[in-house]
Amino acid sequence: MTVLHNKNDSIFRLSLFQEFPTLMHYQSFGGYEALGKAMNECPTKVIDTLTTAGLRGRGGAAFSTGLKMQMVLNNTEQERYIICNADEGEPGTFKDRFIMTHNPFQLLEGMSLAAYAVGAAKGFIYIRHEYPEEQDIMRHSIAAARAAGLLGENILGKGFSFDVEIFSGAGSYLCGEETALLSSMEGKKGRPRVKPPYPTQCGLWGKPTLINNVETLANIPMIISRGGDWYRTLGTPDSPGTKLISLSGDVVERGLYEVPFGITFRQIIDEYGGGIKDGRSIKAVNIGGASGVVVPPWELDCTLEYHSCNERGITIGSGAVFVMDERRSILANVHNRVEFFLHESCGKCTPCREGLRQAGRIIHNLLAGKASMDDVENLERYTRAMQNAAFCGLGQAAGNSLISSLHYFRSEYEAACVVYDQHCKREEITA
Ligand SMILES: Cc1cc2nc3c(=O)[nH]c(=O)nc-3n(C[C@H](O)[C@H](O)[C@H](O)COP(=O)(O)O)c2cc1C
Ligand code: SF4
Repeated sequence: MTVLHNKNDSIFRLSLFQEFPTLMHYQSFGGYEALGKAMNECPTKVIDTLTTAGLRGRGGAAFSTGLKMQMVLNNTEQERYIICNADEGEPGTFKDRFIMTHNPFQLLEGMSLAAYAVGAAKGFIYIRHEYPEEQDIMRHSIAAARAAGLLGENILGKGFSFDVEIFSGAGSYLCGEETALLSSMEGKKGRPRVKPPYPTQCGLWGKPTLINNVETLANIPMIISRGGDWYRTLGTPDSPGTKLISLSGDVVERGLYEVPFGITFRQIIDEYGGGIKDGRSIKAVNIGGASGVVVPPWELDCTLEYHSCNERGITIGSGAVFVMDERRSILANVHNRVEFFLHESCGKCTPCREGLRQAGRIIHNLLAGKASMDDVENLERYTRAMQNAAFCGLGQAAGNSLISSLHYFRSEYEAACVVYDQHCKREEITA
């Protein structure tokens, strides 16, 4: 089981994500007060408060949550949906499952607040097929909320009706992409659609749909309770609030940590993760999951903030941080990621399908000492073509770890080619 760690001291004043597994427990700590408060006011007040708070999506793209809600609200179509994206397919990420298993009602309250804001009567939680325990917990929690009059018709007697249903995902990484997710919910192949139109304009069954990540929605109750200005006291002006970080790899204390935006990646590793195991040193850190980048230790003083990370080409993504000590092979790590994406690519477009196949072949040959620097140049060319020409976010981001590793760890690629060059020279001499 994942254990959430946060530091409730004067520097790290955090507690957005706590453990309230039952409705009674959640309500005794102020749960559902935000919904009661919001329903006494106009729905646009929720959107205004989230905009003041500066809440941005935690599913990867970091889009403004208030703006997305406003786009749904502006739509003239009255039938609207909200979907909680609980696909959590990014390797090394285990935050959404924590929220669902340890504080399901905070997520449900967040969904109700979002539904109230955009005028949706129906919501879905798209939970990945590999999370049966989370599906059970959410099903029971929905039933408990319904029994308490917190979901269903005329919630808390305020005239607002909203209900939630679980949708079990199809076990595909690509179905986490919002338009592929919509197709899969509509009973079609889970493949991405052309954007625009965006789901806010034409979503589930052609209706305006708000799609948000679990962590994004679970942030909402506290913001509505305490206000947007309070939220801005956490984090930084560019990136207010906190972020759940799934820390894994060669650190002493792997786990899920709630950290304020604005601390450095080095602090995350040293102060939360307890540093590197057995006194070894850091060789590289993968930030943002399989679709994220691989950076050397000197980049770790970058602060966890959307703006500073963007400037340095670092993708915060889902908040996965995987630490590699000096014994790890960068090539083996990147090969693993390329194989993952090759498996998950839907094959619809050539740059992604063929680019990944070629990249996988070349890295395999590099690892076997059977590739030259010409192959490495081709590897870079194919990967850049895939980043630029792929149809959806999977193909556009699949090469991030590869390109960053070529930038920072080119010597490992060159060293692998030396083996091949020596082998060729030996062959020439014996011929
Ligand atoms: C290949 C791919 C996989 C994705 N997987 C997830 C996922 O598992 N969970 C998630 O919340 N967002 C995922 N996203 C991002 C969603 O498309 C979408 O941006 C997000 O759910 C919006 O929620 P937010 O605004 O709260 O971040 C994925 C995107 C891509 C391109
Ligand atoms: S980029 Fe890859 S996953 Fe996306 S549509 Fe093209 S082939 Fe499919």
